[in-house]
Amino acid sequence: MTVMQTSLKQLPRDLDQNRLPRHVAVIMDGNGRWAKRQGLPRIMGHHRGVDALKNLLRCCDDWGIKALTAYAFSTENWGRPLEEVEFLMTLFELVLRRELQEMMAENVRIQFVGNLTALPQSLQAEIERSMQDTQHNTGLQFTVATNYGGRQEILQACRAIATEVQQGNLQPDEIDEALFSRHLYTANVSDPDLLIRTSGEMRLSNFLLWQMAYAELYITDVLWPDFDRSEFHRALCAYQRRERRFGKV
Ligand code: IPE
Ligand code: IPE
Ligand code: MG
Repeated sequence: MTVMQTSLKQLPRDLDQNRLPRHVAVIMDGNGRWAKRQGLPRIMGHHRGVDALKNLLRCCDDWGIKALTAYAFSTENWGRPLEEVEFLMTLFELVLRRELQEMMAENVRIQFVGNLTALPQSLQAEIERSMQDTQHNTGLQFTVATNYGGRQEILQACRAIATEVQQGNLQPDEIDEALFSRHLYTANVSDPDLLIRTSGEMRLSNFLLWQMAYAELYITDVLWPDFDRSEFHRALCAYQRRERRFGKV
């Protein structure tokens, strides 16, 4: 390994190891615009977007970040042209099949959140396999939000809780924030500390609405396929300059 490669693997010296975000969430936006700028079809942007995600995953692993959540497909993205939706579903499946071995080798635990039952059967099977194979891995917790919508997630939690109340297993006054959080898809992962959104859009687009209550927001004009280690470094520097008050003084 070259000196250059070794140094890239180390946490940059201007970052404080003890004040890294535990959990980073990303809205990977701007694939289409990236492709358009290169005079390529949108799908090429999605291809390159996968590479950017792989690099970010490795970077989190190298730099000691414990959890990464990526928004891959929203409940609203079904409204895109059919060819694009079909391309994305096929891409997810291919990538998952291709990358599983490497994720195993890197001790990554992958999980998918969202309404998975609406996804193509073959993709569901691949998702199931990847979650099962990696479930005992103890390294980075990698969550992929696929057919995910924050409002839909909150509604399914409400339904599950209402059913428990109806069956007499729960009293309404027992419903608190901790109980509600346990009914969300993200029950086993802490709330994100840092949300990164690329391509300059200043909105949440229905991502982790409940969990984002106190996340630090970092929005960059960089388009997702161009989001690399040095951009991530920039985001982490910005995060470490923030003062997280959580409503206190
Ligand atoms: C994000 O890039 C990828 C997905 C939503 C799947 P976009 O496809 O939204 O790219 P833009 O926003 O059109 O540039
Ligand atoms: C958000 O990006 C969803 C994902 C990145 C998967 P969109 O491109 O769908 O968001 P809007 O439409 O600009 O809000
Ligand atoms: Mg977009």
